[in-house]
Amino acid sequence: MASAAQAKYHIGFKPETIKLFELRNVSTCLQYLLPTLESLPPTFSLLDVGCGPGSITFDLARHFPRATIIGVDQSAEVIQRNRASVEVLAPGTRVEFRQGDLLRPESFLTPDEIGGFDVVHEHTTLICIPHNEPVLRQMKLLAKPRGGIVACRDGDTQSQVLWPPCPENAALQERIYRTNGLETQTGRQLIRKALEAGFRRDQITASASVLSTITAPERRAYAGSMLDILADENSEYRRAAARFGYTDEQVDVLRENMQRFIDAEDAWRLLICTEIICRLDDGERDAGS
Ligand SMILES: C[S@@+](CC[C@H](N)C(=O)[O-])C[C@H]1O[C@@H](n2cnc3c(N)ncnc32)[C@H](O)[C@@H]1O
Repeated sequence: MASAAQAKYHIGFKPETIKLFELRNVSTCLQYLLPTLESLPPTFSLLDVGCGPGSITFDLARHFPRATIIGVDQSAEVIQRNRASVEVLAPGTRVEFRQGDLLRPESFLTPDEIGGFDVVHEHTTLICIPHNEPVLRQMKLLAKPRGGIVACRDGDTQSQVLWPPCPENAALQERIYRTNGLETQTGRQLIRKALEAGFRRDQITASASVLSTITAPERRAYAGSMLDILADENSEYRRAAARFGYTDEQVDVLRENMQRFIDAEDAWRLLICTEIICRLDDGERDAGS
């Protein structure tokens, strides 16, 4: 079984993908969590696991400049890039970035920090981790045992619908997820995963929202990122297509679908995103672990 540390993030960080991620911020992705964060003392601490290019992490720091916000990612490349941008994107805040595997927290946190966060947050990280059963339990252990919060928002990949339809792209994505040990139904199972991690049902608040990609810049960001990935023969998508015996013509169809999605003024992408806020109460760890 590939551990999270061994697994390579299958999307990668091409420039167009980073542009797509830059559309993510507190307003577009964290509406479900914002009231909870606003109710905390302004000096709260938050760990953003799998922060990637950090657009959400930076925006959290700008919203809550007195809070200690730590972004962690296994990719040294994005962490280096994020560190270099702190002074420009979140000056005067208490944001920092560390490299590490969230399943091995001792590699990036001090013993005091483990179990010391007011909030442990992930945004679309769970769906990128093969065999992700241990992730929520780990996040729970990183939060304060009394009153700590674990918050997750993940796309339910299999719920994605595109107009005009692109069944060939969906089929390849499903096969890549399956062969990499990734799930395309993580979103709909968030409550189940939280229960398995030891949260009681009454500690879990769940909600959902829809990621809607409509405008020309949004369509270009999404499909442009896919075109960038499909243009690179070394990308996980192209390597997987080669392994599955795709012909050049079949790869061309994948590209044409994405180009049509950019060009068609009636194009629309919809993806269900599920959200949970799990709040630990006093003495919970003794009862729940
Ligand atoms: C889809 S990206 C999400 C990035 C960011 N949270 C956002 O929504 O913009 C998933 C991120 O999780 C990171 N990741 C995957 N497995 C990880 C692990 N075991 N430990 C730390 N980061 C991990 C990847 O490197 C990638 O940056």
